[in-house]
Amino acid sequence: MSTIAVIGTGYVGLTTGAYLAHLGHTVVCADVVPDKIEMLNRGEVPIFEAGLDELVREGLDSGRLSFVLGDEHAVEEAEFVFLCVQTPQGDDGSADLTYVRQAAADIGPHLKPECVVINKSTVPVGSTRVVEQALGRDDVFVVSNPEFLREGSAVYDCLNPDRIVIGSDDQAAAMRVRELFESLRAPVVITDPASAETIKYASNAFLATKVSFVNALANVCEAVGADVREVVLGMGYDKRIGFEFLKPGPGWGGSCFPKDTRAMVRIAEDAGYDFGMLKGVITVNDEQYERMASKVERAVGGSLEGKIVAAWGLSFKARTDDLRDSPAIEVIRRLEARGGKVRAYDPAIKPGRGAAALEGIDVCSDPYAPCEGADVLVVLTEWDEFRWLEFATVAGLMRAPVIVDTRNLLEPAAVRRRGFSYVGLGRE
Ligand code: UDX
Repeated sequence: MSTIAVIGTGYVGLTTGAYLAHLGHTVVCADVVPDKIEMLNRGEVPIFEAGLDELVREGLDSGRLSFVLGDEHAVEEAEFVFLCVQTPQGDDGSADLTYVRQAAADIGPHLKPECVVINKSTVPVGSTRVVEQALGRDDVFVVSNPEFLREGSAVYDCLNPDRIVIGSDDQAAAMRVRELFESLRAPVVITDPASAETIKYASNAFLATKVSFVNALANVCEAVGADVREVVLGMGYDKRIGFEFLKPGPGWGGSCFPKDTRAMVRIAEDAGYDFGMLKGVITVNDEQYERMASKVERAVGGSLEGKIVAAWGLSFKARTDDLRDSPAIEVIRRLEARGGKVRAYDPAIKPGRGAAALEGIDVCSDPYAPCEGADVLVVLTEWDEFRWLEFATVAGLMRAPVIVDTRNLLEPAAVRRRGFSYVGLGRE
């Protein structure tokens, strides 16, 4: 078992630290935010992620997991250091490496010789070199090991990965990293750093392409009178296509897809290739938010001016409280721009949460409250609990019982029986 430091305690860093301790390693996680470190040392997890609380507590109780303030204190004993700091989208679409560079520069002088620094942050191709330079050391190794976890099932994904990708110029360093994950029994792809970095972008760009494809397909289905659910069912049995990631929705969002698809376009552009197809994928997504707003506008009779809109869902997908680049909020902003007054409910978002993304949105504490006197109910996030609410009660509360279901979450026949007019995506 190894001694590991993890730099950054966001979704990726905290989950990585907690599951590596669960695998039996000794892990010190570092962050620069004092409040976060204090909370974590008390066993309180600042993010909403299934199973993460238990894993953090297990790590603290076993003594294998600890949290410290400041990067340099975490790395002094470490054989491996995971860099898990954020790589936000820069002004020109490329990933901003400021935090990665800063973290590497901070830890460089404190590393033990032969230490392996592992980059888990999603970074442009060639960033392994950037980290090497920022570390300023020629007696340590830098390896790329992109993370593919999904928010909402991060712990499960870490413990049951589809594959582990390790990019390194040094075979021995790659094998040392591989040993860390030995007990996971997942296929391991050992490759060069540039390929490893590209795998991460290509995977997210491809998944975004699937979603944009099915969203565009839903538009065609509406136009020709086909049912997108039947079409996807018929396509999905083809093993080359599959059923995954072909659910139409209000557009893709979250902390990864928007920045990674744009970064991939930019990486290609910088290398002299115009990735027009991926630009199209992004355009379809931007148009999807607008399309959803138009759907709602039509459902209320052609104008949203002065209309009350009840919105179910704010997070970018179900089972997370993450609001970053949430399609739900993108659609809400467009409804507001067309004159609608939006009141929202989300099971993971408490009223009064001071997030900038929510500014001006009236957030309610139960799903029925926003429906009082509403002209339309819009389902924006696919929370399962929305399917089991009392629709007869909802209909009674609303001024007009109209539902626009941008996730095809509800059963049209069931809500129609309760007096609703129902509009879904790509189906009657
Ligand atoms: C994603 C990738 O799945 C993960 O491998 C990567 O490393 C990080 O980014 P995550 O951000 O948690 O994970 O979101 P994901 O579950 O993949 O969903 C992305 C977006 O696509 C969401 O907005 C979601 O609502 C949307 N989506 C997904 C659809 O609209 N339809 C689908 O069928 C699937």
